[in-house]
Amino acid sequence: MASRQSENNAQEETSPLTTPNANIARIIPSLPLETRWPPFPLRRYANFWLPEVALKEGVPGVHSCFEPRPTDVFLASFPKSGTTWLKALAFATLKRSTHPPFDDDHPLRHCNPHDCVRFLELDFNQQKDELEALPSPRVLATHLPYSLLPGSITGDGERSGCRIVYVCREPKDVLVSSWLFTRKAAPACGVDARSFTIQEALELFCDGRCLGGPQWNHVLHYWKESVRRPDRVLFLRYEEVLIEPEAHVRKLANFMGCGFSEEEEERGVVSAIVELCSLGKLRDMEVNRNGSTLLGIKNESFFRKGVVGDWSKHMTQEMAQRLDKVVEDALQGTGFTFASTA
Ligand code: A3P
Repeated sequence: MASRQSENNAQEETSPLTTPNANIARIIPSLPLETRWPPFPLRRYANFWLPEVALKEGVPGVHSCFEPRPTDVFLASFPKSGTTWLKALAFATLKRSTHPPFDDDHPLRHCNPHDCVRFLELDFNQQKDELEALPSPRVLATHLPYSLLPGSITGDGERSGCRIVYVCREPKDVLVSSWLFTRKAAPACGVDARSFTIQEALELFCDGRCLGGPQWNHVLHYWKESVRRPDRVLFLRYEEVLIEPEAHVRKLANFMGCGFSEEEEERGVVSAIVELCSLGKLRDMEVNRNGSTLLGIKNESFFRKGVVGDWSKHMTQEMAQRLDKVVEDALQGTGFTFASTA
């Protein structure tokens, strides 16, 4: 019990690392291992459970040779919190002068959002040249905790850091979305996860033993940075974007330094972006019905219901209370709560 509490402790996340991030690969075999969230084996490093593949290749590569540009925008999230949607919205907004949302051949009409906006820690080593060749302003994504981003991205004293947009989601909905995604996506990657129950997923999630976990610590650190440096870190809540998507697209555009002109407003560009990126539109596109990502995950797995409170269809009240209590205890005294302020 004592060790469980220490894993969940929200204050622990900023403790100093003993291994420079560029040298992680060589200590991986000695790190705690978790294999119950296929297809990714996870290792516990710097107080977070992270995909072994990212620790082996992506994180060292990003720390030793990724060169951010001041105009880069990073989309950060805990998995299953609305990453795919944020990627679509940010890409469509930032790239609208080259790709107007009304275009029949808009990239989002024939590419999955994950192919339009790459994950830094998963794609950097293999797609290095491609990422470096992207025209500015680039939009890239990450599931890495804030503490594992290189100082060149977060701002290391001399530099003010890149813009980061974080999307957060209520933990019970994240848990259920992660559990269903694992059960659906793992077999497509050759791993059978059909015996993985919601009870088992809940236990692991409460222990922080899930991709990117503990979820609340991941969220908390980005939230703190958004309070400290609101011009560099924009903190969004999935539930609030669902209620007012257009207002959030305007907010996103202003933050990214590409606010909408009056003329664009009159032409309905904002609503066209929201429409293009809606769950219904994206899910129905041929590429998202039949395609797969580079990791072999079917594109359709990223689009499910996209609603608030779906957890209640899969968890009992008792299970919900258990997770709520773990989160409440971990966040005590931090000033952060998952309750929406809208
Ligand atoms: P549900 O499983 O609750 O439906 P991520 O993109 O971080 O993997 O998160 C996936 C969640 O976002 C899924 O939630 C998915 O349905 C939802 N989602 C994907 N695209 C969306 C969109 N365009 N609008 C709203 N929600 C979306």
